[in-house]
Amino acid sequence: MRLPLPQVEPDASLPSSVTIYEVGPRDGLQNESTVVPAAVKSEFVSRLIGAGLQTVETTSFVDPRWVPQLADAEEVLGLLGDQGLGATRPVLVPNERGLDRALECGVGAVAIFGSATETFARRNLNRGVDESITMFQPVVDRARAEGLWVRAYVSMCFGDPWEGPVPVDQVVDVCRRLMDLGCDQLSIGDTIGVGTTGHVHALLGALDRAGIGPDRIGVHFHDTYGQALANTMAALRDGIRVVDASTGGLGGCPYAKSATGNLATEDLVWALDGAGVETGVDLDALVECSTWMADRLGRPTPSRVVRALTGG
Ligand code: HMG
Ligand code: MG
Repeated sequence: MRLPLPQVEPDASLPSSVTIYEVGPRDGLQNESTVVPAAVKSEFVSRLIGAGLQTVETTSFVDPRWVPQLADAEEVLGLLGDQGLGATRPVLVPNERGLDRALECGVGAVAIFGSATETFARRNLNRGVDESITMFQPVVDRARAEGLWVRAYVSMCFGDPWEGPVPVDQVVDVCRRLMDLGCDQLSIGDTIGVGTTGHVHALLGALDRAGIGPDRIGVHFHDTYGQALANTMAALRDGIRVVDASTGGLGGCPYAKSATGNLATEDLVWALDGAGVETGVDLDALVECSTWMADRLGRPTPSRVVRALTGG
């Protein structure tokens, strides 16, 4: 049966096209209590690409003792072959050891990941903000020398579970320092999903004034408080063109209290399809991929769109 699709009414306040940066295989699967086999991970990535997602973050080259769920990064990339390579298949890399492993696999894009707060930097990277930026410098230098595309994530941009509110100026300072390392794109993370639309507008405005315009920024919203889609639409109205999302709404960070899944890619595609915004994604194929993955994980997806379309 053909799935119902939203009635299309173009929204002139939105861009004509948006790049979805799919993080399900990385942000999603890093947070699963069970370890998903490498063959399932690589099939998940292939199915996402088949559904029309152009940018897919495939895995993480972090210390496997810190994130055992993604200890099989080399195996996953080996199974993916050419599908896992190129500038649109980034992998997470915290340090030179991670970069060595990623380069060995032939990757074409990497993402470093810093924190706007001292506490989360220590919990997630075992070092403070300054030391973590020192750790990233040679990673970015070498990645650029190898011709790789480099993204910089910044976590806790909208609030921190240990430190509480995070001043916008503090976030901008860390973003500026990471971009000054030579990164191509910044991703601002609402790791615990507490942000709201005015806050998004304030941060994007402050970043712009600091010389980081919306053309160099992706937004990364977790949906803990149900704000991820509203925040994304607000960011798009402020000129953002790259949106991080996770198929099936999988995700979270094992080192961040109260981080649930990311914005579900299906919910984003529904909203953008209805507004006449081009994403290249086929919603039917994406829902099929998401249902397949939910079956592998043995639990239903939190995506409202998937539940509505599949009667789940
Ligand atoms: P450390 O213990 O300080 O590392 O951890 P170290 O440099 O002292 O090295 C200790 C040992 O670990 C050495 O081995 C290294 O070789 C090994 P030994 O000599 O003792 O046998 N090691 C590694 N092995 C494999 N791959 C590596 C690696 N690095 C060191 N890359 C470290 C520091 C950064 C490595 C650790 O804290 C870590 O791996 N953290 C990653 C945590 C993580 O992955 N969190 C989730 C991703 S972030 C996120 O989800 C947020 C995001 O989605 C945005 C948002 O939502 O806000 C991006
Ligand atoms: Mg995240």
